[in-house]
Amino acid sequence: MLTPMTPAPRKPSQKPSVGDKQDKGQDVQAMFASIAPSYDLLNRVLSFGVDIFWRKEAAALALAHDPKRVLDIATGTGDFALELKGRAPQIDLTASDFVPEMLAIAREKAAAKHLEITFEEGDALKLPYPDASFDAVTCTFGFRNFSDYAQGLAEMWRVLRPNGRAVILEFPPPARGLFGSLFRFYFRQILPRVGAVISGNTDAYTYLPESVLAFPEPERLAQLMRATGFRTRYKLLSFGIAAIHVGDKR
Ligand SMILES: C[S@@+](CC[C@H](N)C(=O)[O-])C[C@H]1O[C@@H](n2cnc3c(N)ncnc32)[C@H](O)[C@@H]1O
Repeated sequence: MLTPMTPAPRKPSQKPSVGDKQDKGQDVQAMFASIAPSYDLLNRVLSFGVDIFWRKEAAALALAHDPKRVLDIATGTGDFALELKGRAPQIDLTASDFVPEMLAIAREKAAAKHLEITFEEGDALKLPYPDASFDAVTCTFGFRNFSDYAQGLAEMWRVLRPNGRAVILEFPPPARGLFGSLFRFYFRQILPRVGAVISGNTDAYTYLPESVLAFPEPERLAQLMRATGFRTRYKLLSFGIAAIHVGDKR
């Protein structure tokens, strides 16, 4: 029998283990590197395009206090960074991710739209920025993939200035009831199959529902944010499929 002292060997593209902190970061990197070319298309198809509206709402909350310097972590292919910069061209926007293949696509998209965004490689759990250097820090659909949520929040807090704002857009676990059951069925049975066909990666789109089902309930994430020091509130979107958490550093 394998004990924690004798970890099983891992394939480079192995699906991230939602409960295995040690290897999750590396597996998440390998997974997003492999699905980068099909990530945007799959986002639109699998969310029926609704993710565009969720991002707009999260961007409005992130920009509500007129921030000057903004950091978008786990920016991926940059959709949220583009939304922020498109709405508020005056902001000084840095967008970071630890997967170069995702960042390469983000850079191309920003260049095509003539949006000036600084894209940088970086681990959200060990951000390469000094304390108190941003007025807002955002994270859309990236937080769930962190191997240590408390560390992710601590880093967001650290790089925020006093009165700064953190905004997290995520998929909470589906609620109970009829809609939640339907959504679980879609998530477990349909989404992995469509994802596998379009991306050619079977594991990535079984990881997605597993990671959502293992993610803390919105109230629990709010508690974690409060424990970090944030004043928080959250809003459920589309019958609770997505949630926006706002944390103010007061
Ligand atoms: C589902 S994508 C979300 C991308 C983008 N924010 C969006 O809204 O479409 C998750 C992204 O989080 C990144 N990520 C996960 N863990 C990370 C970490 N510890 N540091 C930096 N990026 C991370 C992945 O590389 C991936 O690009």
